[in-house]
Amino acid sequence: MFELVREDLARVEQEIAAQNALAIPPVAEISSYLLEGGGKRLRPALLLLAAGMCGYRGDSAIRLGAVVEMIHTATLVHDDVIDEADLRRGRPSANSRWGNHRSVLAGDWLYMQSFRMALRERNFRILDILIELTQNMVEGELLELDMLGRIDLSESEAIELAYRKTACLFSGCTHLGAVLGQRGPEIEQALSEYGRYAGLAFQLVDDVLDFTASPSQLGKPVLNDLKEGKVTLPLIYALECRNGDARKMVGTVLAEKGFHSVRPEQIAELVHGTGAVERTRRMAHHYAAKAKSLVSELVDSDFRRALLAVPDFVLDREN
Ligand code: IPE
Ligand code: IPE
Ligand code: MG
Ligand code: MG
Repeated sequence: MFELVREDLARVEQEIAAQNALAIPPVAEISSYLLEGGGKRLRPALLLLAAGMCGYRGDSAIRLGAVVEMIHTATLVHDDVIDEADLRRGRPSANSRWGNHRSVLAGDWLYMQSFRMALRERNFRILDILIELTQNMVEGELLELDMLGRIDLSESEAIELAYRKTACLFSGCTHLGAVLGQRGPEIEQALSEYGRYAGLAFQLVDDVLDFTASPSQLGKPVLNDLKEGKVTLPLIYALECRNGDARKMVGTVLAEKGFHSVRPEQIAELVHGTGAVERTRRMAHHYAAKAKSLVSELVDSDFRRALLAVPDFVLDREN
């Protein structure tokens, strides 16, 4: 699926490494550490595929591919500080290695360096898209903080969070690719919406994996969202089916901020036993199908076929 852009992705990697080399030691160390830690590079891949689909294969797509991955890295570094997470990409998180202070500043530097790179394109539309999505993500993290510990979160609130945390960056990536291709507003809108739906599917799968994966598979802790105070869609659905005792049990984990009086297996049983995992998966399928239908209306090409394969990859992913 990413075969078409494999060489371009290698150039994105070089571009990010070159940008990291410009940073002073603590920042350079932190950002190269994260880069080497792996990661799926889904966001630059989406940008490159969307640009290719619109007939653009030049250097701006490589640079913007680096920009979106660096923005993603910055949000992860900040997110792990906020969530006090100690594992990322299968290794100790930046905050657990370098501490919160350095991690926050490294994230800030990465944001600014990505905007500096984007500025080189001398294209206000590109800056518009990037600023909008970055603010959206920051607002998403802030909204989530306000919602921490809330057991009565609604389905629509959970989806709004998924949009802000994840889907708006996916959407920005495919939108930017389309802007580079200059094929007009209709294709831009279709690709931007495609990214949004693919991103929603991705985040819902992430919420499911928190209940179904193993830590070694995922590269981050599992059954962790609830511990962090996050009531995600699988739990929202589970609580719709089983009130009473289930609600009390979830409330206890939220109050204790961990599994002390309640065992993780009890929560896993709750989301599996009520069919909530399946229901969330069906919702992710629904978004993936929407993403595919938007692209299937565009002119056929290898790039379009690759874009059609991404939502299925997102649904099947194990990490
Ligand atoms: C992690 O994103 C953050 C979420 C949106 C859930 P990815 O799962 O794409 O992270 P990497 O880049 O592959 O590590
Ligand atoms: C991921 O958020 C970071 C952003 C997309 C801003 P989460 O806190 O939900 O995801 P993980 O579990 O740390 O990757
Ligand atoms: Mg987190
Ligand atoms: Mg978080």
